[in-house]
Amino acid sequence: MNAKGVPVAIINPDAPPESLEAKQPEVDNGVDVAAKDGYFSREFMALEWEKMWTRSWLIAGVSSDLEKVGDYFLFNIREESIIVTRTEEGVKAFYNVCSHRGARLVHEERGNRKVFVCPFHSWSFHHTGELRRITDEEYFKPEVIAHRPGLKPLACEEHAGIVFVNMDTNPPPLKESIGLPEGYLEAYKIQDMKVVRHVRSEWGANWKVGVEAFYESYHLHAVHPETRGVMGDLNVQYDLYPNGASRMIVPLGQPSPRVADQKTVNEGLKAMLEDAGVDPQGFDGTAEDVRRAIQEGKRARAERLGLDYSRFTDGQLSDSWATGIFPNVQIGCHPEAVFLMRFLPHESDPERFYYDTMTLVFPVEDPNYCPPDWMGLPEDTDMTAAVRPKMEYYSIEEDAGLGLVLSQDASLLPVVQQGMRSRGFDGQLWSEQEQRLRHFHVELERRLAQ
Ligand code: FES
Ligand SMILES: [Fe+2]
Repeated sequence: MNAKGVPVAIINPDAPPESLEAKQPEVDNGVDVAAKDGYFSREFMALEWEKMWTRSWLIAGVSSDLEKVGDYFLFNIREESIIVTRTEEGVKAFYNVCSHRGARLVHEERGNRKVFVCPFHSWSFHHTGELRRITDEEYFKPEVIAHRPGLKPLACEEHAGIVFVNMDTNPPPLKESIGLPEGYLEAYKIQDMKVVRHVRSEWGANWKVGVEAFYESYHLHAVHPETRGVMGDLNVQYDLYPNGASRMIVPLGQPSPRVADQKTVNEGLKAMLEDAGVDPQGFDGTAEDVRRAIQEGKRARAERLGLDYSRFTDGQLSDSWATGIFPNVQIGCHPEAVFLMRFLPHESDPERFYYDTMTLVFPVEDPNYCPPDWMGLPEDTDMTAAVRPKMEYYSIEEDAGLGLVLSQDASLLPVVQQGMRSRGFDGQLWSEQEQRLRHFHVELERRLAQ
């Protein structure tokens, strides 16, 4: 219980305070109801662009997509397209626009090039940004091109295997902005993980409705009833970090406390045991023993495979550490894989967003070493990641094939968006299970007021 008598779940009461698993001190974010016009208004959308998107560190992609010098990918957000590329001097980012008359330079989503040639008048640029050649240069008065106009750079940094960009000309230090403790993301070695699936789908709601739905486990029992047998939705630990970051630890491998039967090892629990390399047939415990068995199974498997898991707590092996980085990211962190989701604003419609998900797996050659089932990877996914799969794109009318849980969210979110529009709705009333939402909004308001 906290001071107000609200129940507080703690995953591991014995975790030392400096442990990444330890419950963080409470943050008082007040009890105000946030104004709801931010979900519909174009003025608010413009304000968010001006004050927040163009001044925040944003996840552009992952380091493993830029393995070799010359590898590049595009990061498109609203009207901006950004080229992110690996050079001899590290990762760099440039606006994807030709300095001559502004044509977009690159159209393919990713590739390897050391020279970019403009499709309009074929000016060319080195991938390091410098101007390489001006077509018919003798036809220009020298003063016009004396500054040798190259590609316009923007701030770009790698951290823990993730590539961040910032359109602000004087951005704050990245690590501090992320807000998570040292070592938190680093533990997963995301730089060694490979993208095995990348899906972007368009959803009928404001991007914040997306963030909010993924920042709480309060809706699991209603929207995802199949999770009741395997997720301790009322035992979730919520933690708030500086600068809008937050996380929830969702204990997996245990039935929801909402369920009367806490003993039977149901089908879902059996599947989780199997995922962890534990034979469910030979398992003689009850449902209460499954989470521990998963942890032990994974530790033993790691030892067998020569993987060093000493940096992970037991809880990290079984639970989902759903980690939010302001403004638009949640990373489902697991030793075997991470699920990186980004909620990207629509170009013009405040009531739409793009849900971009990348599944990255830690490359281990063992058929029994697999990402958690809820990540919804199709059967035919190439786990060796020999070829980086193309981004699959789904328009708003299509089913993105994201698996049961995510499809349930995709159909629910427009219902929320529509309801919030009603003059009968006064604004969201958040519980302490939704404290991450309040934390997110407090940070958003702070940024917009700057
Ligand atoms: S706009 Fe690129 S060369 Fe003219
Ligand atoms: Fe959901």
